[in-house]
Amino acid sequence: MRTRPLKVALLGCGVVGSEVARIMTTTADDFAARIGAPVELAGIAVRRAGRPRPGVPEHLLTTDAEALVNRGDIDVVVEVVGGIEPSKHLILSAFEQGASVVSANKALLAKDGAELHTAAAEAGVDLYYEAAVAGAIPLIRPLRESLAGDRVNRVLGIVNGTTNFILDKMDSTGAGYSEALEEATALGYAEADPTADVEGFDAAAKAAILAGIAFHTKVTAADVYREGLTEVTAADIASAKAMGCVVKLLAICERAADGASVTARVHPAMIPLSHPLASVREAYNAVFVEAEAAGRLMFYGPGAGGAPTASAVLGDLVAVCRNKLNGATGPGHSVYTRLPAKPMDEVVTRYHVSLDVDDRAGVLAQVASVFAEHGVSIDTVRQQGRDGDASLVVVTHRATDAALSATVDKLRALDSVRDVASIMRVEGE
Ligand code: HSE
Repeated sequence: MRTRPLKVALLGCGVVGSEVARIMTTTADDFAARIGAPVELAGIAVRRAGRPRPGVPEHLLTTDAEALVNRGDIDVVVEVVGGIEPSKHLILSAFEQGASVVSANKALLAKDGAELHTAAAEAGVDLYYEAAVAGAIPLIRPLRESLAGDRVNRVLGIVNGTTNFILDKMDSTGAGYSEALEEATALGYAEADPTADVEGFDAAAKAAILAGIAFHTKVTAADVYREGLTEVTAADIASAKAMGCVVKLLAICERAADGASVTARVHPAMIPLSHPLASVREAYNAVFVEAEAAGRLMFYGPGAGGAPTASAVLGDLVAVCRNKLNGATGPGHSVYTRLPAKPMDEVVTRYHVSLDVDDRAGVLAQVASVFAEHGVSIDTVRQQGRDGDASLVVVTHRATDAALSATVDKLRALDSVRDVASIMRVEGE
């Protein structure tokens, strides 16, 4: 075994960083044995010194991240700060210094991943980020390495634990969105400002990363269609139940049937109870991958939290340290297919459309003809009469988002349609 240690700079010492520091220092001998050289935590950059950080060696703390990265003897920089800057600048500086980088920064990778990968390749170092998508679940390396000999056609994932917790609460208790969000906040799942989770930004960043890796092309967060779950009602959940479905916030990455483009989207969707993703409860994450030779695979586990995310970070740390010792780098960013990302209008899926209509002769025929006019074929219709009006639930066969939107615009203009109560996509069949 090499006796000179590999030196690691840790940027960030919050929920994840403090677990990384704790596990690294308490299991240093195992790390050395697995890597073939000791690994030394050389410094920890924090925003504010002086906060109590139990288990974190205080003498390693510094508020000067720039100086730590540029001190000249760092082999690996672990970035668990998040956000675009200063993380991006620090990562680029690390590459210039010849250091490999392990990052958990989904927002940065979904925005500037291609630029960072190019910089890493030019510097001859690694950029690994298993923790950026779905916390502890091994996903990036299975997609990039284990499935490198296969052709992935679809990735369907629950990649945000907060929203899965909220939807699961709504489903199991009948609660409305606000009540379920309150519970998620009280239990520490949702942050004080839950926007990134509930509006789907967090899941969209993860979808961009997964789509890029799965389809060997460049996809950024800006290419991902995004709808959050704030409009999902208790009535939607009940309607899903009546159909034998459950509502999930899904990240869906697909290769088009003609193989010439890809799409990535995040939105609430109904999935049948028989689909493996339907059984993902509470704040768990799961990603369902459909590959040509492998068939259907499911990856499941905790998608957030200090120790689970630290597990993914440390797995990457071991991998990049091994590469360093071998004078090698791991697989880089594969974008050879150069498949363009298609807009949402062209996505083809099924829809659940819930309408409040007048309950009189000819209304059902009128509604059905609007679907027909736009080439949207109806699969099932369920009507329930109320005093003078009726609730009409139409589930369609597969149609483009553009055709469905045009159908809904026309339905809204009908006198007999009092309200388009909800529209939800139906996936996973
Ligand atoms: N806020 C995310 C979630 C975890 O609720 O899953 C970090 O990506």
